Amino acid sequence: MVPTAENFDLVIIGGGPAGYAAALYGASAGLHIALIERAKLGGTCLHVGCIPAKELLETAAVYRTVSRAGEFGINAGSPSVDFGVTQARKQQIVDQLTTGLTGLLKRRTVTLFDGTGTLHPGRVVRVSGGASGEVELTGDHVLLASGSVPRTIPGFEVDGRFVVTSDELLSLQTLPATAVVIGGGAIGCEFASMMADLGTEVTVLEALPKILPGCDDDITKLVTRAFSKRGIEVRTGVTVTGHTPGEKTTVVALGDGQSIETELVVVSVGRRPLSETLGLEGTAVEVTERGHVVVDERCRTAEPGVYAAGDLIATPALAHVGFAEGMLVVKDVLGEDPLPIAYDRVPWCIYCHPEVAFAGLSEEAAKEAGYDVVTAKQRYGGNGRAMIVGDNEGMVKIIAERNADGGAGQILGVHMVGPWVTEQLGQAYLAVNWEATAAEVAQFIQPHPTMSEVFGEAAMALTGRSLH
Ligand code: NAI
Repeated sequence: MVPTAENFDLVIIGGGPAGYAAALYGASAGLHIALIERAKLGGTCLHVGCIPAKELLETAAVYRTVSRAGEFGINAGSPSVDFGVTQARKQQIVDQLTTGLTGLLKRRTVTLFDGTGTLHPGRVVRVSGGASGEVELTGDHVLLASGSVPRTIPGFEVDGRFVVTSDELLSLQTLPATAVVIGGGAIGCEFASMMADLGTEVTVLEALPKILPGCDDDITKLVTRAFSKRGIEVRTGVTVTGHTPGEKTTVVALGDGQSIETELVVVSVGRRPLSETLGLEGTAVEVTERGHVVVDERCRTAEPGVYAAGDLIATPALAHVGFAEGMLVVKDVLGEDPLPIAYDRVPWCIYCHPEVAFAGLSEEAAKEAGYDVVTAKQRYGGNGRAMIVGDNEGMVKIIAERNADGGAGQILGVHMVGPWVTEQLGQAYLAVNWEATAAEVAQFIQPHPTMSEVFGEAAMALTGRSLH
């Protein structure tokens, strides 16, 4: 017999970035919150996404640094990889963050349930199949935040041996000698970069004419060139039809009749929303053909009091967008009339080498949107700090609206590629979202010597004057 339902201000299904951000933020505002998670708190980001991937990429960075230590007069010998140790370090970080997050939620008195949550009419949520047993809850508000899973393609079913997605790749105990990465998006480029640095011969197969399709063309060109210098083969405009496994390798068939023999195929062709586990029968919640839950600009579904956020809705599948949506939902629940998220101006960070970071429109997207633009490109080549670090390939490109006098006006987008750009995006993000002009940004002093001087110089160049 199911006990009488306990009522909460907010019941959240899914403990990933969108769900746990809503829980933490809502609890800090005094809301009585239930959070239901069927696997581990932290979601894709913490367990099979951002955190483990960046840890492996950092291992690759350490390897690169040690390989070049001789240039700095440090005799470190020639490095070799013990991927088992790498995996253990990665897991330790993931575990520590998971424990920290769980503790934080408990200290904020969020009530945690272990199991699968399903939504029923009247904002009734049933929990089942986990350590919490069969429980029925009701919420004045409900947030659906069940996330996403890797997409696969026909002919490349995950077999745990030759074909993997990010889920499996992040836990490999040894790296293959050769790998084919299908899909040159963020995940594909990060994995290609990591594996290549650690000694794998990598081929990236991308269906579109360029890798990193959302990025500015100049940025993509630079990444493609840098990849090719490191021995990563990038083939664009290609399709794959299937693969034929052998004993130790498999042969990937391309649409043009060619084939590639490889030890491992990494499928990174996007993620799909995980909406099929949510119940929803008898509710007004709408789901698109692709599986996204339909929401308005405040993440509200068609069912009164029911919200959806994170990878489950058709917005950028980024952890920090999930955080922002989780907080927006709480503000709406509190009646604070929150501003919608400007999705075309969210920050993007891709941690391949060289790193990519951007906010706002690319030159191509700005022109497509009808803007008359002026751009400035400033390279890291002559930047003191980048030279000291020994990593000075890259550029900052600013795209600004052209004023009536021909000069640069409002900054529409900042696109960066190069050393540590993921850590330099902050002020570019502020400039774009504050709707600052190039002249306003150029006034600000950049500390010297830093890599952020390159952004300052690019803004200055747009004013028609420059230093370097
Ligand atoms: P994605 O959608 O960013 O890229 C997938 C790529 O695969 C696209 O370039 C697409 O044209 C290509 N593709 C699709 N089908 C193909 C086929 N049959 N053959 C060859 N190419 C094909 O998806 P991705 O990289 O898997 O990432 C999933 C989500 O996770 C994205 O929303 C991404 O933004 C997010 N993510 C973000 C990261 C970051 O910001 N650092 C890191 C990892 C993931």
